Amino acid sequence: MRHTMISAAALGLTLAAGAALADVTPAVEARQGQFKLYAFNLGPLVQMAQGNIDYDADAAGVAAANLAALVSVDQARLWPEGSDNATIEGTRALPAIWDDLEDFASKFSDLQQAVAGLEGSAGTDLDGLRATLGPVGAACSACHEANRAPE
Ligand code: HEC
Repeated sequence: MRHTMISAAALGLTLAAGAALADVTPAVEARQGQFKLYAFNLGPLVQMAQGNIDYDADAAGVAAANLAALVSVDQARLWPEGSDNATIEGTRALPAIWDDLEDFASKFSDLQQAVAGLEGSAGTDLDGLRATLGPVGAACSACHEANRAPE
């Protein structure tokens, strides 16, 4: 009898672990896709700011508006417990995120604020783009330094 109970408990644990793995994978892939879209839209703005491609007010305005839309996506379902790089493969998200979720959230709101500034100026002229792009890059880096493992 005791033996049966232990087996059931062990099975229960196995099922729970399996369910947790199945649950977090879509969230990990979705948040990585989100960040790819951040980088995809930031790319031409950086190229323009650095003078590698000609400044194009319309393209800059669209990229900045896309970024503003992207950083407004609700994050609640993208960061489930157990989706850190100490628990699962295939993520660079550090456990530090879940140790201090408030700090993580505040780094997201820093990014939202910086992107709001960018959205207001990127499509005006090159100086406006250059002045507001730096804070956006700084907000990306601040979070990566604290919460993302190196490749
Ligand atoms: C509040 C924290 C935070 C902010 C702000 C942030 N990132 Fe990240 N980023 C992360 C974390 C954590 C990961 C690792 C996600 C994973 O692997 O599960 C990541 C991953 C990435 C990746 C790799 C995605 C992949 O293919 O796996 C890119 C690219 C990226 N971020 C770009 C950016 C850019 C560009 C910005 C600013 C516009 C930005 N991030 C802002 C936390 C942040």
